[in-house]
Amino acid sequence: MQTLIACLCLLILSFVSPCLCGMWIVGTENRTYNVIDYGAHGDGKSDDSEAFVSAWNATCGAEEASTLLIPPNGKFLVKVINFRGPCNATSVNIQLQGRIVAPAMDEWPRGLTNNEITNLIVISNVSSLSINGSGGSIDGYGSSWWQCTNCYRPTILRFRYCSDLTVFNLNITNSPKAHIRVNGCENATFSNITIHSPGDSPNTDGFDIYTSKNILIQNSTIACGDDCIAISGGSSYINATGIACGPGHGISIGSLGRNQAYDTVEEVYVKNCSFTNTENGARIKTVPGGSGYARNITFENITLTQARNPIIIDQYYDRKYLTNASVKVSDVTFSRFNGTSEKELAITLNCSSSGCFNIALDHINIVSAQPEKPVSCFCNNAHGTATSTEE
Ligand SMILES: *[C@@H]1O[C@H](CO)[C@@H](O)[C@H](O)[C@H]1NC(C)=O
Ligand SMILES: *[C@@H]1O[C@H](CO)[C@@H](O)[C@H](O)[C@H]1NC(C)=O
Ligand SMILES: *[C@@H]1O[C@H](CO)[C@@H](O)[C@H](O)[C@H]1NC(C)=O
Ligand SMILES: *[C@@H]1O[C@H](CO)[C@@H](O)[C@H](O)[C@H]1NC(C)=O
Ligand SMILES: *[C@@H]1O[C@H](CO)[C@@H](O)[C@H](O)[C@H]1NC(C)=O
Ligand SMILES: *[C@@H]1O[C@H](CO)[C@@H](O)[C@H](O)[C@H]1NC(C)=O
Ligand SMILES: *[C@@H]1O[C@H](CO)[C@@H](O)[C@H](O)[C@H]1NC(C)=O
Ligand SMILES: *[C@@H]1O[C@H](CO)[C@@H](O)[C@H](O)[C@H]1NC(C)=O
Ligand SMILES: *[C@@H]1O[C@H](CO)[C@@H](O)[C@H](O)[C@H]1NC(C)=O
Ligand SMILES: *[C@@H]1O[C@H](CO)[C@@H](O)[C@H](O)[C@H]1NC(C)=O
Ligand SMILES: *[C@@H]1O[C@H](CO)[C@@H](O)[C@H](O)[C@H]1NC(C)=O
Ligand SMILES: *[C@@H]1O[C@H](CO)[C@@H](O)[C@H](O)[C@H]1NC(C)=O
Repeated sequence: MQTLIACLCLLILSFVSPCLCGMWIVGTENRTYNVIDYGAHGDGKSDDSEAFVSAWNATCGAEEASTLLIPPNGKFLVKVINFRGPCNATSVNIQLQGRIVAPAMDEWPRGLTNNEITNLIVISNVSSLSINGSGGSIDGYGSSWWQCTNCYRPTILRFRYCSDLTVFNLNITNSPKAHIRVNGCENATFSNITIHSPGDSPNTDGFDIYTSKNILIQNSTIACGDDCIAISGGSSYINATGIACGPGHGISIGSLGRNQAYDTVEEVYVKNCSFTNTENGARIKTVPGGSGYARNITFENITLTQARNPIIIDQYYDRKYLTNASVKVSDVTFSRFNGTSEKELAITLNCSSSGCFNIALDHINIVSAQPEKPVSCFCNNAHGTATSTEE
C-alpha cells in the first residue's frame, strides 16, 4: 500500500514538476545539520566544541550532499575542534552565519603538544567541501597570546589533506599565530577572504601554504603582522590574484631550506595585488644550507604604496649555517610594478654564491615615498634582464 502511494506521489509530481521529480528519483538530498540541534549554546561562554564536532560527524556521515549550519545571532565559543573526513557525504557545505570565538590563552586546553590538536579548527581529509562565511566571522582572541612570543601559539583555521575545497566570504581576525594554514591540499579556491590583525602582532601570517598544489587565493584583503601569504616547501601552481595586502610582510615564497631542508616551490603567479605600508612586497627568502629550488615564479601588475623592500630576493635569510649550499632560485619575473618605496633601497636581489638565474625585471616604475629622494637597487650574483625599469 505504501509503495502504491509513493508511486502515485511520484506520478503526480512528475506531472506537476518534472524537474523536482528528477531530483527525487536520483535521490539527491541536502540535509542541514544545525549546531544548535547538537547542543551548541551560542552564548559566548559555554564550550560549544563538542556540539560542533557532533554536528560535523552527522553532516560528514550523511549519504548525500549535506550542510553544517552555524546559525546567525549566536556567538559560539569553541576550543579545539577537529572536523575529520573522509566523509560519506558526496559534498559538504559549511554555512558560517554566526560568530565563532576562541578562548583566551588562559582558558585554552592544556597539555596538548600535538600539532593537530593545538589549532582552533582543523579540517582534514575532506573532499568537495565548501565554506560560505557570509554573515559570520571567526575571532582568534590573539591579543591574549601575542605578548607570549615563545609560546606554542595556535592557528585559527587549518586545512590538511583536502581536495576540491572552496572557501568564500570569510572574515577571520586576531589569530594567535597564522590565520589560515593549508597543507597536503589540492584544488582549493579562497575568494573574498578578509583577514585582520594588527601590524605589530607577531607571526600572524594571513595564509601559510605548503605541500599543496593548484591553490587560488583571490579578491581578498589581508592585514596582519607577518606575511600576507607565505608559500613554502612542496607547493606548486599557487595563484594569488586581487589581494590587498597591508599592513603585513608582503607575499613571500619561503622561507625555504630552513634546517638544511630540501624544499621546492614552482609555478607561482601573483598578480593584480597591492602592497600598502608593508614590510616587503614581492619576496623570495631562502636559508643558507638548504637545497631544492624556487622556480617559475611571476609577480605581475603590483601597486605599491610606501612599501619597504618592494622587490626582494634574500638568500641569506636567517643565516645559521656557514655554507655555500642553497636553494636554487631561477625563472623569476617581476613585471609592471608601480608605486612608492618607503626606503631608498627599492630592489634587492641578494643571491647566494651559486647565483640566481633568469631573473627578469620588466616595466618597473618605483619612486621614493619621500618627494625628490632617489631610490636604488642592490644586486649580488643575480643574472637576468631588466627592461623598461626606472627607479
Ligand atoms: C566524531 O567522529 C570521530 C571519528 O571521525 C570520533 O573520533 C569522535 O569521537 C566523534 N565525536 C563526536 C562528538 O561525535
Ligand atoms: C560511512 O558509512 C559507513 C557505512 O554505513 C559507516 O560505517 C561509517 O561510519 C560512515 N562514515 C561516517 C564518517 O559517518
Ligand atoms: C546544499 O545547501 C546549501 C545551503 O542552502 C547550499 O549552499 C549548497 O550549495 C547545497 N549543496 C548542494 C550540493 O546542492
Ligand atoms: C588523511 O590523508 C593522509 C594523506 O593522504 C593519509 O595519510 C591519512 O591516512 C588520511 N587520514 C584518514 C583518516 O583518512
Ligand atoms: C565578501 O564577504 C563579506 C563577508 O565577509 C560580504 O559581506 C560581502 O558581501 C562579500 N563580497 C562579495 C563581493 O561577495
Ligand atoms: C569581521 O568580524 C569582526 C568581528 O569578529 C568585525 O568587527 C568586523 O567588522 C568584520 N569585518 C568585516 C569586513 O565584515
Ligand atoms: C584537481 O583538479 C584537476 C583538474 O580538474 C584534476 O585532474 C585532479 O584530479 C584534481 N585533484 C584532486 C586531488 O581532486
Ligand atoms: C594560475 O595562473 C596561471 C597564469 O595566469 C593560469 O594559467 C592558471 O590557470 C591559474 N591557476 C589557477 C588555479 O587559478
Ligand atoms: C574577483 O575580482 C575580479 C576583478 O574585480 C572579478 O572579475 C571576479 O569576478 C572576482 N571573482 C570572484 C570569485 O569574486
Ligand atoms: C592591476 O591590478 C589592479 C589591482 O591592484 C586592478 O584593479 C587592475 O585591473 C589590474 N590591471 C590589469 C591590466 O589587470
Ligand atoms: C618554467 O620556466 C622555464 C623557463 O622560462 C620554461 O622553459 C618552462 O616551460 C616553465 N615550466 C612550466 C611548467 O611552465
Ligand atoms: C602607475 O602609476 C601612475 C601614477 O599613479 C599612473 O598614472 C599609471 O597609470 C600607473 N600605471 C600602471 C600600469 O598601473
